[in-house]
Amino acid sequence: MREKLIIGNWKMNGSDAANAELVQGLVAEITDIEGVRIAICPPFPYLAQVRGLIAGTMIRLGAQNLSDRAEGAFTGEVGAAMLADLGCTFALVGHSERRSLYGESDAVVADKFAAALQAGLTPVLCVGETGDERREGTTHGVIARQLQAVVDKVGVSKIAKGVIAYEPVWAIGTGETASPDQAQEVHQALRQLLAAQDHSVADAVQLLYGGSVRADNAAELFAQPDIDGGLIGGASLSAATFASICRSA
Ligand code: 13P
Repeated sequence: MREKLIIGNWKMNGSDAANAELVQGLVAEITDIEGVRIAICPPFPYLAQVRGLIAGTMIRLGAQNLSDRAEGAFTGEVGAAMLADLGCTFALVGHSERRSLYGESDAVVADKFAAALQAGLTPVLCVGETGDERREGTTHGVIARQLQAVVDKVGVSKIAKGVIAYEPVWAIGTGETASPDQAQEVHQALRQLLAAQDHSVADAVQLLYGGSVRADNAAELFAQPDIDGGLIGGASLSAATFASICRSA
């Protein structure tokens, strides 16, 4: 039985004051929740602040991105070991905004996944098709390519040391959520792609759904057999809404 996992991705939102209010609210809201792992991913500058705010709670810390390099002359980059040093458990890798707006290739994403593992972090590999790719019927080919690039880099056995998040690009921040059937179908395909290479990895790896998850659609999505939780954007910026999503898991 795979544990449920809910991760909040704040994206480029927050401030010292707003983070304190949000996290204090969240800590107060989730006291009744059991059996779900919860993590939040603030922007880099606030990792230390949020680490302090969640100390002693069940909430874990994650980063939204990391460098593909270990350390050295890479101006503006943040290395995996630094994130581990700051108390991060998770690091998102290959979010669609990184791929589309900052040109991250499958190869760079695979290097980042490997860098996160090397530092003892749990990488959360994001995969997903655009609206055009879905209309063209290439969804499965796209997610297979994105996943296989990482499998080829680290080996299939290491995939279960990470998490995979299926985030259809057309559902991110649009209010248009994949239906539970649509999401389940792709999650099942991801698991089958892994099962063809290693059954135990396919059974063990947690697969999250992301893309316009809200308090009112979360339970139905998380009830699908191959959906082990969610990667939550906008709705993770409200303590009450995010807690409600965690509760539905
Ligand atoms: P929204 O929940 O705002 O659609 O964002 C999803 C996402 O990109 C999480 O990483």
